[in-house]
Amino acid sequence: MIRIHSLGYVGYESPRSEDWRDFGPVFGLEVENGPAGAVNLRWDDRPYRLRVIPGELDRIAYLGWEAPNTAAFDEISAGLAALGYPPQDESAELASDRQVRALRSFTDPLGIRHELFYGPLSLDRSFQGTRATTGFKTGPQGLGHAVLAVPDMEIAVAFYEGVLGLRTSDIVNLGPGGEMRFLRTNTRHHSIALWRMHDPVLGLQHLMIESRDLNEVGKVYDVVQASERWQLSSTLGRHTGDEQLSFYTRTPSGFDLELGCDSVDIDEAVWSARYFDNRQGAPNEVWGHRWLDIGAQSSLHPVEE
Ligand SMILES: [Fe+2]
Repeated sequence: MIRIHSLGYVGYESPRSEDWRDFGPVFGLEVENGPAGAVNLRWDDRPYRLRVIPGELDRIAYLGWEAPNTAAFDEISAGLAALGYPPQDESAELASDRQVRALRSFTDPLGIRHELFYGPLSLDRSFQGTRATTGFKTGPQGLGHAVLAVPDMEIAVAFYEGVLGLRTSDIVNLGPGGEMRFLRTNTRHHSIALWRMHDPVLGLQHLMIESRDLNEVGKVYDVVQASERWQLSSTLGRHTGDEQLSFYTRTPSGFDLELGCDSVDIDEAVWSARYFDNRQGAPNEVWGHRWLDIGAQSSLHPVEE
């Protein structure tokens, strides 16, 4: 079975890319200039983990999947080809733009562009957060997680589990809120979650970055609450699924940023997929996470059924 190392980077297109220069540092992220006017957001020694590219719509430009080495890069590619998604070799120029050694790309059945790479440029001990305590859990667990709103759960699961080879950690039935599926590729509880919402929409619902320090999460929570510019989308709380203690803020690009800490690590040898059904009394939260009504997300786009 093909085995992807981690979710390595996200490229996102947005009319408000420039606002990230102010938004990123609130969360301790470093901001640097990317190619062609893009804004690179850093939270470890990679050149970027999120790149926000100027564009007309808030939309995912690409999801970057990391292969641990050349052999895995080829093996994963062969697996994708065998399942009907042959990745295309990308040029050295594009690999250089992404700051990786080698790059291939393919498109999922929902129309999202995926990139497979190995050999990310590493800038050893170069990350400087905005506070002395700022540090994020990445490395073997990748950048954090991304939650995608998908118009068709069956098609999405067939691809993300059946083709990409991600493994189901949890399934959650939200009743009228739809259904979610949490998928992992390493010890992080999920690198991707799929969410079939009440209405069929496609896009990035939120991105999670994980702090190493509970106090860091609390300090940023204070800053966002006191801010007149940035809005909380959810109060502080702890999820039952990944056990993350976190809160959510609306980003300049319509999706939410979840800043968390203290999540569970998955032991592959013993984990068995769980099913939480809200209608049968299974809760999503240990405590907290009160969702605030701050309007629709410009990152989610209606899809014809
Ligand atoms: Fe999350």
